[in-house]
Amino acid sequence: MSWSKERLETVARTRLGGAKLIVVANREPYIHRYRDGEVEWVRPAGGLTAALDPVMQACGGTWVAHGSGDADVEAADAAGRVRVPPDDPRYTLRRLWLDRADEEGYYYGFSNSTLWPLCHQVYQRPVFDLKDWEAYRRVNETFAEAVLQEAEGGPGLVFVQDYHFALLPRLLKAARPDLVVAQFWHIPWPNPETFLVCPWARELLDGMLGNDLLGFQTQYHCNNFFETVDRALECRFDRDQFTVSRAGHETSVRPFPISVDPGLAKEYLGDDWGRRAVAVRKKYRLADRPLLVGVDRVDYTKGIPERLRAVDRLLELHPELKEKFHFLQVGAPSRTHLPAYRDLADEVQALAEKVNWRHGTDRWKPVVFLNEHHTPEDVTVLYRMAAGCVVSSLHDGMNLVAKEFVAARDDERGVLVLSRFTGASKELPDAVLVNPFDADDLANGLYLALTMPAEEQERRVRRMRAQVENNNIFRWAGTLLSEVGKRVPEPAVPAPAPAPEESPAARTDRIERMIAIENYMTAMRLAGG
Ligand code: F6P
Repeated sequence: MSWSKERLETVARTRLGGAKLIVVANREPYIHRYRDGEVEWVRPAGGLTAALDPVMQACGGTWVAHGSGDADVEAADAAGRVRVPPDDPRYTLRRLWLDRADEEGYYYGFSNSTLWPLCHQVYQRPVFDLKDWEAYRRVNETFAEAVLQEAEGGPGLVFVQDYHFALLPRLLKAARPDLVVAQFWHIPWPNPETFLVCPWARELLDGMLGNDLLGFQTQYHCNNFFETVDRALECRFDRDQFTVSRAGHETSVRPFPISVDPGLAKEYLGDDWGRRAVAVRKKYRLADRPLLVGVDRVDYTKGIPERLRAVDRLLELHPELKEKFHFLQVGAPSRTHLPAYRDLADEVQALAEKVNWRHGTDRWKPVVFLNEHHTPEDVTVLYRMAAGCVVSSLHDGMNLVAKEFVAARDDERGVLVLSRFTGASKELPDAVLVNPFDADDLANGLYLALTMPAEEQERRVRRMRAQVENNNIFRWAGTLLSEVGKRVPEPAVPAPAPAPEESPAARTDRIERMIAIENYMTAMRLAGG
């Protein structure tokens, strides 16, 4: 049976009973910012928020996130709450404010300079800095406090996202053992040798074993996690059921390959996508040449320089393709505060210029690099008008661009050139699978994208579309909720709406919980991680 928004709504109602759904993710799904003195809202780049927003719209509940926009405070109430989507409110976004030092140490530091390169293994050396680790710990405690406020007064299911919050599940369980806690780790989990070089590996693992359910993108990542825990901590393992028990608490570890809402492509294209495609061609002087597109955050895991070197190689191997196509790369600026990301944007810019200099003519530039944020509506038009889409990640948990491209091709045309080192390649074997480290292999993939006969494209796209339609984001969320929802207890009384002001009793209760968290953290520190 196929999964739809409606079926997910039913599952959420029946499985969650009266329990409140609280999603925790560092990134908020809607950002308010000032533009020309006015407040506007935008959706951030990145797969996680795009995937989870339809789920929250279907299930309702609260999304707790870092408020990162310069107009976020103004758009929210005194408690940081704002109803979203702003143009059609369906759930609550609870924003939490971080000071510069915490954002620096927790987000740019431990999350994105330590765990991100550690888990992706793309030859970017992870940074191990005690100050970053302390900020990460502090911010996990701050999020725990906010989640506990949101969960007050009744049963709840807390669904934690990603590597920013490895410590949060244990903190929540220590304060509220009755809460059901699940976490989805969106990025790869490396082998034990790689992960265990982290000086705080044991504390991270212990935090994650506070979950009732822990999800990864693939079975391979689950296996790696199991092996890592086995080497580092005293636990009981059930390898048939894939559960780990530590100090009497059991965590199930399962693969849940994340996906997209395929219906969104139609919405984003609207009736006028053809007119918008003509405008794009005019704006970037693309004439009517076939287009290869890449759509990524500018991140060193995505293999963008490798892609440009492959365009260079393609034109060396096939000079007959001169003036016959364009490669258009959308590179959304990302984590630009970090030197590694700024350097990468410069490198990509320089490479694009080099390829254009070597192969371009007066009338033609092979590469167009757009280093700016694009809306999902604009990106979907690019997918729809392209001859091919190139996803050349060096390592990627899933990669939702690949699935978005397939979802946009209701004409059953287009070629997906896809790195073998993405989770998506396991589900989309009809893509042209390539090794992005091998310039000739990737160049050959680009060549196939420009020359594949229409019938062959159709055969492949049809199968890939069936796969994405069937294994959509509603299946991902539905199977995950079904699995973890079994553990949600029936509410004794209907959960009261959260009080706008904290009562003395609630305050005492909150302080006691914070003391419980603090005691737990101190005990962990004394135990040496
Ligand atoms: O899981 C990868 C992730 O952290 C997701 O939040 C999202 O897909 C992307 O990277 C965005 O990164 P950031 O929130 O740091 O801009």
